[in-house]
Amino acid sequence: MTKPLALGVLLSGSGTNLQALIDAIDAGRLDARIAVVVSNRPDAYGLTRARARGLATETVLHPDFASREAFDGRLVEVLHAHGVELVALAGFMRLVTHVLLNAFPERVLNIHPALLPAFPGLHGERQALAHGVRITGVTVHFVDEQTDHGPILVQAAVPVFSDDTEETLHVRIQRQEHRAYVQAIQLIAEGRVQIDGRRVVISGARPRAEAVLTNPDIDDPR
Ligand code: GRF
Repeated sequence: MTKPLALGVLLSGSGTNLQALIDAIDAGRLDARIAVVVSNRPDAYGLTRARARGLATETVLHPDFASREAFDGRLVEVLHAHGVELVALAGFMRLVTHVLLNAFPERVLNIHPALLPAFPGLHGERQALAHGVRITGVTVHFVDEQTDHGPILVQAAVPVFSDDTEETLHVRIQRQEHRAYVQAIQLIAEGRVQIDGRRVVISGARPRAEAVLTNPDIDDPR
């Protein structure tokens, strides 16, 4: 891979994760450049964010294609044309196929608003609230052909409070998404990441010993 690492960001919506990547690059905290931002929705606000930063954008409309594979084939053409090395799904509301994955083997990342394998699919925050978990979080993982399933690169835990709504929990989760996605991509940019089956090996990682998040965190039970 080259330095800085050439990213292709795929999105369908507001693009706060894209913004976090842009801000981290501008601040010198992420050794990457965003080669292109691709949306399957022409009205995605993420495209506006990209254009405001002067980034290349492309819109590939899924209804124009007869199959998911044909759609992914066009995505691959666009990503290759912009020299993309690593693909970051950032709120991209389409299932990807082997066509994209074979073109970028072990080079497609996704971010999910829960601690996978808990609460895959849509509405991670809603699922966490409905289940009554006290800790949820975010997951950055490599993408495989199953939804929200591939090897896990970074996770961050987020407490769930009893007065949380989907919106308040979403805000707390997004703050961690924005940190976790930058961290995950920086680890790849530094060449520190290897996939070993389901496990991702990160060289030079020194986990904080016995870091614990307890919720509720009650010092004195009375
Ligand atoms: C994030 O919550 C992410 O976990 C999910 O889609 C959302 C995208 O948010 N995959 P944004 O468009 O980056 O604000």
